[in-house]
Amino acid sequence: MPIDVLLGLQWGDEGKGKVVDFIAPSYQVVARFQGGPNAGHTLVMNGEKHVLHQIPSGIFRPDTVNVIGNGVVLDPAVFYKEVVALELKGVEVKQNLFLSNRTQIIVPTHKLLDRASEASKGDQKIGSTLKGIGPSYQDKYARQGLRLGDILSRDFEGRYQELRNKHLELLEKGGWDSDELADMESLFFESLEKIRRFQIVNTEYLLNDCLSKGQSILAEGAQGAMLDIDFGSYPFVTSSSTTAAGACTGLGIAPRHIRKVIGITKAYCTRVGSGPFPTELHEETGEKIRQAGHEFGSTTGRPRRTGWLDLPALRFANMVNGTTEMLIMKGDVLDCFDDIKVCTAYHDNNGNVSSELPYDMVRSEVHPVYHMLEGWPSGLHEANSWDTLPDSFRRYCKFIEDQTGVPIRIVSTGPGREQTIER
Ligand code: IMP
Repeated sequence: MPIDVLLGLQWGDEGKGKVVDFIAPSYQVVARFQGGPNAGHTLVMNGEKHVLHQIPSGIFRPDTVNVIGNGVVLDPAVFYKEVVALELKGVEVKQNLFLSNRTQIIVPTHKLLDRASEASKGDQKIGSTLKGIGPSYQDKYARQGLRLGDILSRDFEGRYQELRNKHLELLEKGGWDSDELADMESLFFESLEKIRRFQIVNTEYLLNDCLSKGQSILAEGAQGAMLDIDFGSYPFVTSSSTTAAGACTGLGIAPRHIRKVIGITKAYCTRVGSGPFPTELHEETGEKIRQAGHEFGSTTGRPRRTGWLDLPALRFANMVNGTTEMLIMKGDVLDCFDDIKVCTAYHDNNGNVSSELPYDMVRSEVHPVYHMLEGWPSGLHEANSWDTLPDSFRRYCKFIEDQTGVPIRIVSTGPGREQTIER
């Protein structure tokens, strides 16, 4: 049986948590393949909001197996806090969750280094969530990171000290303080003690066994294609492979097992943190979208930047991911507009128009070329099927399909599970 990959096509925050929860019943397994506590997947059930940072969004379904794959970086303290919060709500976590022994560990000094690195960038800050993501992936690729399986070995503490001392040297050289380290470390070791009792296994065997037994797997992406380390708006990106290929390396599954690549996009764009954003709206319109869409980061609470839908970026994301179907989220947020703009191409200062995304979005002149479409001020809230959606919204979807060549399978009309329309 196959694996389907579900991922964000923009700068993250597309609504992946809600979608995973909605489509999870079709899968026996939900697996996270990259990223870490920088992610915040929001699910709303019976009016109650839940935000997951490290744990796959299938955890609320008692029959679903959840896997944290080798491509993830895990912060033990954040992870364990999340487990406790879920257990308090009556969710069974330990039984239904498997962690890869190859998953990299975020150690406390990774967070201090993240902070120091951002501070040293001045106004060139990436706008990192400061969760230690960059430094832990750096150690992974420098071949000196600690992996989850290591916590079961006797020499773990010694290896931890070695890595921590290397980090402290760097911090000292830069004149950065590490005053909070003792507190962070005690929480870190307390959490590790608890995590030792979880199912830490060779998840690549587990996942491939599931496939050979005919079970289906949903690979749950975090962040979005435009934050991918290779294909995003570099250097304003995260440090992992957020695109479909990342699901193979982040789970140990061969490309031939991938059946669908399900891409999620909002009906408009948002971005949190710094970096290029060609369709960004700075004035009243942007604020209107931010307020209507509650566009504030679920991990950091920061206001998200907002803008019209960017089709050159979306086409690029679909191309590098091989998206087979798209899901359009938050169309209801645009209810308040009579007219809606969509960026179909970019132009430079000399009027040259291109539909391609430049490799360096920071230094290129990228101004949007807009196409105007009719809005749907009557709203989406009354619709309960594709046919009952306003005509102008369906025309908006058709325009996106024509421009990208990728069919739209689901539209979301609100935060709840029930506010989801399958075509
Ligand atoms: P980092 O991955 O925390 O280092 O952040 C790098 C960039 O990616 C920053 O601009 C963050 O705001 C952004 N970012 C990281 N994770 C997410 C996410 O889950 N949603 C949206 N943006 C994110």
